[in-house]
Amino acid sequence: MSKVTVPVLKGMKGEKKITMLTAYDHPTAKIMDDAGVDTILVGDSVGPVVLGYPNTIPVTVDEMIHHTRAVVRGTKRAFVIIDMPFMSYQESIEQAKRNAGRMLKESGAEAVKLEGGVAMHDTIKALVDVDIPVCAHIGLTPQSIHRMGGYKVQGKGKDVERLIADARAVEAAGAFMVVLECVPRQLAREITEMLAIPTIGIGAGPDCDGQVLVIHDLLGLLGNFRPKFVKQYRNLTQDIGNAVKEYVSEVASGEFPDDSQSFH
Ligand code: KIV
Repeated sequence: MSKVTVPVLKGMKGEKKITMLTAYDHPTAKIMDDAGVDTILVGDSVGPVVLGYPNTIPVTVDEMIHHTRAVVRGTKRAFVIIDMPFMSYQESIEQAKRNAGRMLKESGAEAVKLEGGVAMHDTIKALVDVDIPVCAHIGLTPQSIHRMGGYKVQGKGKDVERLIADARAVEAAGAFMVVLECVPRQLAREITEMLAIPTIGIGAGPDCDGQVLVIHDLLGLLGNFRPKFVKQYRNLTQDIGNAVKEYVSEVASGEFPDDSQSFH
């Protein structure tokens, strides 16, 4: 059980698939770490998935730090990445350095993730130059929801060249890894072959160097909501609903608690 680090992740390219999952709390992070996941992402998906926000836009730096501290406390082996929320790095390079530095210092995460390709080249380079490891995120970037007008597959038609330029730019800037979200399978494969850094796919097909899923999607915790790229390994919405119904009915009938759950 050796600790996963930036050099370990880079060395896995072409050797072994990298696993990444999102987590937002201590018990989930501990279960994932014990189960052998390589990388835990405290995504700004915490907003819509856990905090009930309509999308990732309202998430704050303080909220990211709060959740990431809990995740780090539950993690021994996995590499923990903290997402930089909307407008915590877009304003200026100084702002990006200040927030990324604070997020690493106060949360205990080992790298930041931020969205954007060519436009973020100088920002990524500035963070890398002060030893803040950066995982880039290109393709569908949920913080651009209002520009994109919805969550849509990227890198089709004229967008192919733009996405390739984004991939080259984040690698040239010094990102150690890049998430490709909702990119056609063939293009994700080309980008993966083109880059020396690992690619992590979500809705980008099987040829990336690794995969990431939102844990609530994998566990079926978001009701009937299931994007095409998700494989739902369990249906916990149903399981939890049934467990709560049983509890409600047993309390009502007096079946719970019984003598074995009572003190004498
Ligand atoms: O915020 C998040 O969970 C993410 C993943 C979907 C990659 O950015």
